[in-house]
Amino acid sequence: MTDLLLLPGDGIGPEVTAQVRRIAEALAPDLAIAERLFGGCSYDAHGEPLTQAVLAEAKAAKAVLMGAVGGPKWAGAPRDKRPEAGLLALRAGMEVFANLRPALCFQPLADASSLKRELVEGLDFMIVRELTGGIYFGAPRFIEDLPGGGRRAVDTQVYTTPEIERVARVAFQLARGRRNLVHSAEKSNVMDSGLLWREVVTDLHAREFSDVRLEHILADNAAMQMVKNPKQFDVLVTDNLFGDILSDEAAQLTGSLGMLPSAALGAPGKPGLYEPIHGSAPDIAGQGIANPLAAILSFEMALRWSLDRADLADRLFAAVGRALDRGARTTDLGGALSTAQMGDAVLAQL
Ligand code: IPM
Ligand code: MG
Repeated sequence: MTDLLLLPGDGIGPEVTAQVRRIAEALAPDLAIAERLFGGCSYDAHGEPLTQAVLAEAKAAKAVLMGAVGGPKWAGAPRDKRPEAGLLALRAGMEVFANLRPALCFQPLADASSLKRELVEGLDFMIVRELTGGIYFGAPRFIEDLPGGGRRAVDTQVYTTPEIERVARVAFQLARGRRNLVHSAEKSNVMDSGLLWREVVTDLHAREFSDVRLEHILADNAAMQMVKNPKQFDVLVTDNLFGDILSDEAAQLTGSLGMLPSAALGAPGKPGLYEPIHGSAPDIAGQGIANPLAAILSFEMALRWSLDRADLADRLFAAVGRALDRGARTTDLGGALSTAQMGDAVLAQL
């Protein structure tokens, strides 16, 4: 049985995932690791970005770690065969509805952020992004030709009570182990789905989590507060689309998009899906200069949340911190290390 299924994917995905593999083999030699095609490379080989066989293996593994998918090469592929469609099918197929995206600023990187040091030093908050619903999956969706010329495109934002409740529950539970504060972000001032979101979160809070502090915040204001005073946040729960946008913003607070890992979790006991939140970065792919830390920290989350090895996760986390303390920097962080050299720097600290 596979413990860790690696899906390196496209672009810089294989480069950063290779460093995860080196670290996993050194840190946890007993882990059974398998590697499969996924994304554009799977489309090239099999005509599908996610084959049924790979999905079945993902559901049977203990944890799945993905590198990145997509790139200009597949821009012309049919929309349901695009690498990104494979990623959405993987998330949906694994039923990983709660996406934990920690925005954590490592002390030595406080100057790498585009915000002032005092705003981001010690930053540690968690975005909980709903991952298997909302406008990413809502029907109908289409582009149609209009009789008078021009076209019309439709996407549908849709949420049900249970979908909102289960992701909000994860956020409240996490907050209890942290600073006990949840911000729930939506657009209840203009969207019906936002109204329902606010109602459901309010009810759940009253029923099960009245010991946790809850603040409702409009998503646009959350975006602004995140650059004004990011340390006010502890856990921020939001829908799929707002979570996508706000987590890129949060990543930059921590110094670089190359730093933010994520864990997508479903029902207890089901495998988690771990992904660096950066994309395939076609502009730097193949050069061996991508920052592997988001992928390495995603493996750290896998050790903690799916593989039941919190001890190893602690060691890995500390090793990343020490490597950064000693000045290890890839180019995105203003340094000159290659992807493999950053892997070396972490390995040296293990
Ligand atoms: C992310 C990415 C994906 C998303 C893309 C690659 C489909 O931006 O994980 O944040 O939009 O969810
Ligand atoms: Mg994104």
